[in-house]
Amino acid sequence: MSVLELSDVNAYYGNSHVLFDLAMSIQENEVVTLLGRNGAGKTTTLRTITGTVPRREGSIEYRGEDISGASVESISRRGVKLVPEERRVFPTLTVMENIQLAHDLAADPRAVEEMFDIFPVLDDLRKNRGQNLSGGEQQMLSVARALVQNPDLLLLDEPTEGLAPVIVEDLREVLGDVVERDVTVLMTEQNVEFALDLGERAYIIDKGSNVWEGSVDDLQERDDLLDEYLSVGAQEAD
Ligand SMILES: Nc1ncnc2c1ncn2[C@@H]1O[C@H](COP(=O)(O)OP(=O)(O)OP(=O)(O)O)[C@@H](O)[C@H]1O
Ligand SMILES: [Mg+2]
Repeated sequence: MSVLELSDVNAYYGNSHVLFDLAMSIQENEVVTLLGRNGAGKTTTLRTITGTVPRREGSIEYRGEDISGASVESISRRGVKLVPEERRVFPTLTVMENIQLAHDLAADPRAVEEMFDIFPVLDDLRKNRGQNLSGGEQQMLSVARALVQNPDLLLLDEPTEGLAPVIVEDLREVLGDVVERDVTVLMTEQNVEFALDLGERAYIIDKGSNVWEGSVDDLQERDDLLDEYLSVGAQEAD
């Protein structure tokens, strides 16, 4: 059975129609990447799954159950956890307290100590406050906060955004370990290399519609798609 099945999904912010008949299917333990340039609708897709977009239509099935009208809380309770683009850590709480709080809010959490095994960087920073962490450390903490809640489906919104290459490398290793742990992952990325490295399958969307889906291996051969839909040229110019 698929973990997540989107068909004919439409989403709106007020009168602005942003997703158009989007379709997507994710199987157990897959790592799927959602690619597309700025404004393509990647974040909106994740928000539509978690229920935070104001209006959505179409069918969203999570493990065979229709969640297209379900509340944000009930979707989260089912084990769907989003690590948003803007890293959400509590600035005045320490690393330990940030993880502990997420742990205490979950019905069936993983052990807090397990997070320090997965993220050795955070082990050295247990007593540091969120506000004093680097961008990369905050990103690790955001992922740890989601992971300690023992997600069934982990949604990562541009996990590498704004991170230095060496930190991206650390994150790649950590997420590689994470996906070994019985978690299904849907992540958005503009860092194509990172996405292709971690993912198995990819979807490309543009202007809120599906334009391509296939294996990461196939995508690697498709410079035309990368040029047309992923502003790879622009990235290289950076
Ligand atoms: N809160 C909002 N209210 C109105 N329009 C919005 C809102 N959030 C996003 N949009 C619009 O919806 C479209 C899709 O935005 P979205 O954030 O999903 O894109 P994205 O693919 O995540 O882009 P990025 O790579 O820049 O994060 C854009 O045209 C954007 O301007
Ligand atoms: Mg986005």
